Amino acid sequence: MSTVVAAKGGLEGVVAGASALCDIDGRSGRLLYCGYDIVDLAEHSSFEETAYLLWHGELPTAAELAELARELREHLDPHPAVWDVARTAGPDANPMAVLRTQVSLLGALDGDAADNSDDADRRKAARLVAQVGTLVAGTERIQQGLDPIAPRQDLSLAANFLYMLRGTLPDAEEVRAFDVALVLHAEHGMNASTFAARVTAATLSDMHSAITSAIGALKGPLHGGANERVMELLRELPDPASTPKLIREMLDRKRRIMGFGHRVYRTEDPRATILRRWSRSLGERAGDTRWYELTRGVEQAVMEEKGLYPNVDLYSASAYTSLGLPQRIFTPIFAMSRMAGWTANVIEQHRDNRLIRPDSDYIGPAPRDYVPLDARSAA
Ligand SMILES: CC(C)(COP(=O)(O)OP(=O)(O)OC[C@H]1O[C@@H](n2cnc3c(N)ncnc32)[C@H](O)[C@@H]1OP(=O)(O)O)[C@@H](O)C(=O)NCCC(=O)NCCS
Repeated sequence: MSTVVAAKGGLEGVVAGASALCDIDGRSGRLLYCGYDIVDLAEHSSFEETAYLLWHGELPTAAELAELARELREHLDPHPAVWDVARTAGPDANPMAVLRTQVSLLGALDGDAADNSDDADRRKAARLVAQVGTLVAGTERIQQGLDPIAPRQDLSLAANFLYMLRGTLPDAEEVRAFDVALVLHAEHGMNASTFAARVTAATLSDMHSAITSAIGALKGPLHGGANERVMELLRELPDPASTPKLIREMLDRKRRIMGFGHRVYRTEDPRATILRRWSRSLGERAGDTRWYELTRGVEQAVMEEKGLYPNVDLYSASAYTSLGLPQRIFTPIFAMSRMAGWTANVIEQHRDNRLIRPDSDYIGPAPRDYVPLDARSAA
């Protein structure tokens, strides 16, 4: 019989470990990476700098940032076998399932696979962050019947991703918007996928196994998959005028509206505030603010009916669409940016490890005698 106190459903409110990476104040809607406010990082930082911050706990000097950029450039090209995975999976495969399999394969091929030391974990983290954009862009092109485009050595990770996806160089505004989105999604405390990564790492399994677990968890619609469902919802709505009525009907039918609600935030998710502005400006820039306006309408209706605040996924859907990014890679893009946070969590877990093995409350039958097969009656 269990002697521990039962946790609330979904482990809500349970502190599952200590971390120096991310602090979320769900009441005031504040999010900090290693003490730096996400608002400042979105304004002034870059994805590369944010990854460095998460891995080292401090912002890099100019020389350290240049060295990281060099290291990332060196690893942009993954082992070519990853393209066999994409081709074998075919055009209709779920891109998150393909990514999960590619990362798993890269783990089997990694020279540091059996080494969980700090240095080896850091090298694997840099390789994964460098390669994941190439994997996502190349897989999308293969699924479109095209060939992957090789990464360039003169571009940032954000610019390279847009280039590898489209085959043309993105402009500065697009790169900035995408870089901000990567910074905003990079880390978020003990969310489901990070917890999955830490549980795997805590068995002293390797970095790639932990990241494979995390990708599997992020794939679900209640986590990373929500941004794609937001876009599906927007496509269902004919115009802003009919949005309140349609949303009301959906809520009456107990339908969950994706992009709203959060386990931690009791106010607006600060990432949604920043992405709302980008959604609007990217829409204006593309000469089509329809997705932004529809999203605003949904936001107002859900607030009025349910008092629920938007989360990070609500405005990333319209922002990505205005950037011309296909809906089916929204969740892989989330994985691309969260790779920085996941890998930082694995490094942290390996540094000060204890097996994560919670208890469960037994709710099954009381002890009973075994019934031989011939003595069992059909129910
Ligand atoms: C994120 C989420 C899973 C958090 O869930 P949680 O902390 O377990 O909260 P619950 O699922 O227990 O929901 C609490 C109440 O709010 C309602 N609610 C929460 N999110 C809702 C949503 N997006 N749409 C409609 N109702 C919602 C629930 O129906 C429930 O209402 P009830 O008490 O009347 O039954 C949940 O808000 C959700 O499913 N959101 C949509 C998916 C999403 O956007 N995920 C991305 C998160 S960043």
